[in-house]
Amino acid sequence: MKLFIDTANLAEIREAHSWGVIDGCTTNPSLIAREGGDFVATIHEICEIVQGPVSAEVIAQDAAGMVREGRLLAQISPHVVIKVPLLPEGIKATAIMAAENIPVNVTLCFQAGQALMAAKAGAAYISPFVGRLDDISADGMELIRQIVAIYDNYPALQTEVLSASIRHPEHLIQSALAGAHVATVPFKVLRQLFDHPLTDKGNAAFLRDWEKVPDTDIIGQVERWLAAR
Ligand code: G3P
Repeated sequence: MKLFIDTANLAEIREAHSWGVIDGCTTNPSLIAREGGDFVATIHEICEIVQGPVSAEVIAQDAAGMVREGRLLAQISPHVVIKVPLLPEGIKATAIMAAENIPVNVTLCFQAGQALMAAKAGAAYISPFVGRLDDISADGMELIRQIVAIYDNYPALQTEVLSASIRHPEHLIQSALAGAHVATVPFKVLRQLFDHPLTDKGNAAFLRDWEKVPDTDIIGQVERWLAAR
């Protein structure tokens, strides 16, 4: 499964990228607005850091405007993926840009029929919003399972399922179990993926026990051993 970070915060992106586990990044107008700053420069800097697919969302609501914005945004970096909302005009714009080999991430997906339309239009990614469905007591993970099953039935559909609106580590785990190709995860949730109390407890015990060995300095021990060979 590919892991994308879902933020426009450059510090979060740099830190998560340093962990060596990030394959891409998704942004949207809300995430961009939250950080402020220059949109184009931010997208370019994210591409330079991540060196993988970076979603930049259009704001036009008509297909011609979406395509015009998308064609320009795609020139910022070879890593740019154009995000469009799952509206009739968005699907129309997807088909045009896909035919020009501009990768498109179709976002704001909340039912499997929408995902089928996006795939038929040639989207590179579909972004079902798991958390926002859970927020209204619907089953967000069921949507992921449905879309994966539908796409698996038709190998000609090349769209990747990009599980989005991830609220906690379980959404990511269940997305992986369901076979989603990608999960885009907020920094806070990515950081939670390291955590378990038994890991902390076990590590503390290892450190405590190591204090009982005659020489706790691993570097010195190995350097002396190598020098004596
Ligand atoms: O990539 C989509 C994601 O940013 C939406 O997440 O938390 O606003 O539902 P959220």
